Amino acid sequence: MRLENKVAIITGAGTGIGKKTALLFSSEGASIVVTDVNQESGNQTVKEIQDQCGQAIFVPHDVTKEEAWMHVVEEAKEAFGKIDVLFNNAGIYIIKPMIEISLDEWNKLMAINVTGVFLGMKHVMPVMAEQKKGSVINASSIAGIIGAPGHVLYGASKGAVRTMTKDAAMEYAGQRVRVNSIHPGYIKTGMATYASEVTGKSEEQLDATYPLGRMGDPEEVAKTVLFLASDESSFTTGAEFVIDGGATVQ
Ligand SMILES: NC(=O)c1ccc[n+]([C@@H]2O[C@H](COP(=O)([O-])OP(=O)(O)OC[C@H]3O[C@@H](n4cnc5c(N)ncnc54)[C@H](O)[C@@H]3O)[C@@H](O)[C@H]2O)c1
Repeated sequence: MRLENKVAIITGAGTGIGKKTALLFSSEGASIVVTDVNQESGNQTVKEIQDQCGQAIFVPHDVTKEEAWMHVVEEAKEAFGKIDVLFNNAGIYIIKPMIEISLDEWNKLMAINVTGVFLGMKHVMPVMAEQKKGSVINASSIAGIIGAPGHVLYGASKGAVRTMTKDAAMEYAGQRVRVNSIHPGYIKTGMATYASEVTGKSEEQLDATYPLGRMGDPEEVAKTVLFLASDESSFTTGAEFVIDGGATVQ
């Protein structure tokens, strides 16, 4: 059991990468605080964890709201007594030419993808610091590393997550709290379906843009997050983990 006796908060765990990570973490012995703005899907993830004899609670949560983060931290401590892992996973995706992006769209995406990560680190890392141990994993993207048409907004948010991760890692290294970012290429969730619709490229065409010949599966991201959450990565902080089938090497 690679996460035995650990307690993990996973945001946006109702679907996609967050859900797969929650199920994997649970199978490795962690107790999970599942959060999502979508109550139905969040409760479904908890049910599936309990069906595999794991421990989990659902906390309704909009990551853009500071009070909601304070509530999540209280619920986690009340249910499980501590917080070992935070996976800042919740995020949204917009592909649009710069001149078509409204200010409302800009502010909404930035609030979820950037402010949500900031608030999560702000409220959870002090708890970890008191414990003198903890691991935070922030969901960035290859869009936080390389450029692409239609990605000014999303890329800005994921670039921010990339550098915020390194800053937070330095701020909390003395308290032995680690912070790392993950950078997936297209992973087969609703986001890849959206990308296919917006770009007019079929799934096969998107697959072909990756040197390994395919997009990734959520499980493949979850396994990297598991490594970063576990003590196996105990000397790793401020690092960026690319999971992209070789896309950024081309
Ligand atoms: N799928 C990909 O191709 C891909 C690639 C690179 C990075 N990522 C990143 O990985 C993360 C997960 O993506 P996914 O593909 O699983 O997406 P997804 O859409 O399947 O899941 C995102 C989850 O976040 C939740 N969410 C949205 N807004 C929220 C809010 N304000 N508060 C709380 N929860 C909220 C949604 O309800 C949903 O359950 C995102 O940060 C995304 O940007 C995804």
